[in-house]
Amino acid sequence: MTEVTAIAHPNFAIIKYWGKANSKTNTPAMNSISLTIDSLTSTTKISINKGSKRNIWLLNGKEQNDLGRINPVLKYLNNISRNNHGCIIKSENNFPTSAGLASSASGIASLVTAYNHFFELSMNFDQLVQASILGSGSAPRSLLGGFVILDVEDQIFTQTILEPDEWPLSIIICITDDNEKTISSREGMEISRHSSPIYLSWLDTNKKDIEIAKSAIAEKNIKRLGEVAEKNCYFMHKVMKTSSPPIKYMTDRTKNCIKEINSIRENGVDLFFTVDAGPQVKVVCRPDDINLVKERLQNKPYVLNLIEANIGSGARVIDED
Ligand code: DP6
Repeated sequence: MTEVTAIAHPNFAIIKYWGKANSKTNTPAMNSISLTIDSLTSTTKISINKGSKRNIWLLNGKEQNDLGRINPVLKYLNNISRNNHGCIIKSENNFPTSAGLASSASGIASLVTAYNHFFELSMNFDQLVQASILGSGSAPRSLLGGFVILDVEDQIFTQTILEPDEWPLSIIICITDDNEKTISSREGMEISRHSSPIYLSWLDTNKKDIEIAKSAIAEKNIKRLGEVAEKNCYFMHKVMKTSSPPIKYMTDRTKNCIKEINSIRENGVDLFFTVDAGPQVKVVCRPDDINLVKERLQNKPYVLNLIEANIGSGARVIDED
């Protein structure tokens, strides 16, 4: 084999991770639940940089100078494979990078999956999770499809709690701005951990939100899931805003989008939204309602583009040479 290609989809957190228990091991301080998004894709090719120890990472065709996110992942993996050559990693995203669409989660999950196959490691799932988390705390969730929980309480484990076809839901991503964010999640969550006066109550609320979300998912109750997801999302953004310096990912466009979503709901449609570390708004609704929701959101001056998606599957190898 000279090259292996894997893909992974980003995931959007319904119950969110914002804050680390340990920044060296990149372990989240709380559990999270996410949805894997099928139409957004990170594709990663891996090959060997023969005769050199240097890792090279090209993202959307551009060589990256900062390998801080992927070097710990490669170090962990090289330890298992006993590889002492550099790797050449070529990643492409079919969606805006670093704009709050979880490109690092899908990028890292596809890298770990490609590496595992390239070196024929047959790593167990715990090792895949360990390798992924070193690159991004949300990356293990992109290894799997459907509704996924990442539990960090005793031992870190990741599991699908509902497969994509068990509860088909539609997702609309409202791109309100496709510029790269000025403050990364990594920096932002460290600032919040050290400075937000409500950070401890944010930690306290996690257990209860996880339990409510788990039971709403088991019941396939979109209303209950939406209530806890929006509450959790607003709380995270409040933690961000009360940090010093304040972190504001929601823009006026984001807020206008949310107003329209609330008005669609007032008209009797069950749907909910979530917003991560960027200005985009992700809407979840029943497949029967997607056209109506799309009609209400398209052609709005605060929406640049709408992307439709369904619930996706986990990271997988798609090609080898
Ligand atoms: C707001 O996983 O990108 O999307 O672990 O530092 O790489 P690092 O952070 P990252 O943060 C995700 C933050 C979030 C919420 C979530 O996805 O749970």
